[in-house]
Amino acid sequence: MSIASPSGATFELAPYKSLDNETLQARINLVRSQMGSSLMILGHHYQQDEVIALSDLRGDSYQLSKMAAESGDCRAIAFCGVHFMAETADILVNQPSKLAERGGQRVTVILPDMAAGCSMADMAAIEQVEGAWEELGEVIDTSDITPVTYINSAASLKAFCGKHGGIVCTSSNARAVLEWSFKRTSRVLFFPDQHLGRNTAKAMGIPLEAMPVWDPIKDELGGNTPEALKNSKVLLWRGHCSVHQMFTAAHVAMFREKYPGIKILVHPECPMEVVDIADISGSTGKIIREVEQAPPGTKWAIGTELHLVNRLKQEHPEQEVHFLSPVVCMCATMYRIDLAHLCWSLENLAAGTPVNVIKVDEDVAKWSLVALERMLAVK
Ligand code: 13P
Ligand code: SF4
Repeated sequence: MSIASPSGATFELAPYKSLDNETLQARINLVRSQMGSSLMILGHHYQQDEVIALSDLRGDSYQLSKMAAESGDCRAIAFCGVHFMAETADILVNQPSKLAERGGQRVTVILPDMAAGCSMADMAAIEQVEGAWEELGEVIDTSDITPVTYINSAASLKAFCGKHGGIVCTSSNARAVLEWSFKRTSRVLFFPDQHLGRNTAKAMGIPLEAMPVWDPIKDELGGNTPEALKNSKVLLWRGHCSVHQMFTAAHVAMFREKYPGIKILVHPECPMEVVDIADISGSTGKIIREVEQAPPGTKWAIGTELHLVNRLKQEHPEQEVHFLSPVVCMCATMYRIDLAHLCWSLENLAAGTPVNVIKVDEDVAKWSLVALERMLAVK
């Protein structure tokens, strides 16, 4: 079977949608064998099982950024995750030093479905953050604030942090990043996830009164008084993950009552009331490691995206894994990446007619890299 487009025209997506998974898998594997090590398929832990099965590497946001930064002879990355992750991969893999090593050749980064965004990332727009910074400057000295953006944000926000002495964090290094920030300034502006910011700062002993929430929708000082801002240590942006905010303290109580001895393991994007009473909280990578390392017979109720919890259930039959909610909470945007989109985008890539290419604007990429490199250097 040839996958070259004879006319040089892009293959249309529609016909792929009627193919069964077996056919799609075979065609994806054909592209993988033809492209060999020049193609790298990266899969975030929240992806569907059939996508994970075809990924060369899987990881949490931090691990995936490192993989992209360290990619060797690969010339194309198919990113099975969401938009901000593919942007981060493009910034890291096509940074000037790597481009020079490859004689100027870019790595093509593709996102199989452009609609795979992140609703949390969309809760902070660059104009809103710039507006907040300007307003804050009327009340407090912004040279004494480190802007910290969660990696779940558009590249323009990472660039904002790069330009203003700030940094990026992920769920696995948020505490180390805040510690880095407090060595430089006495305040932090943390966006877009208020929960990760609050949970991390609280664990560091910062009182809730020193963590006012900046609401970008409110006209005056994000809904705060000048005094509250002057007394702040961590200014939290009013953003959240719609998947993780579904987990409640009542769910934790319900599981503990029904399964005595059960361990509650949650992602730090969950609300503070849940993280406070959980046994363990951490990134998707940490959640996996905790389950892998636990003795057989351990009971878990896990508060993170459904596909990951179901995979842990299948991969660890020696343990008892429950989903920490009676209702289905899945990331609808992660779910958009399916075999049809993956096959369609890979066959176009192999035919020399790449679709859904993620290419961050040069100036934005330059400043985002500054903030990402600061993060990668934090231990
Ligand atoms: P991780 O950094 O833990 O992989 O989380 C990414 C994410 O989007 C969680 O909702
Ligand atoms: Fe964004 Fe939440 Fe989906 Fe993670 S789970 S990608 S934070 S919407």
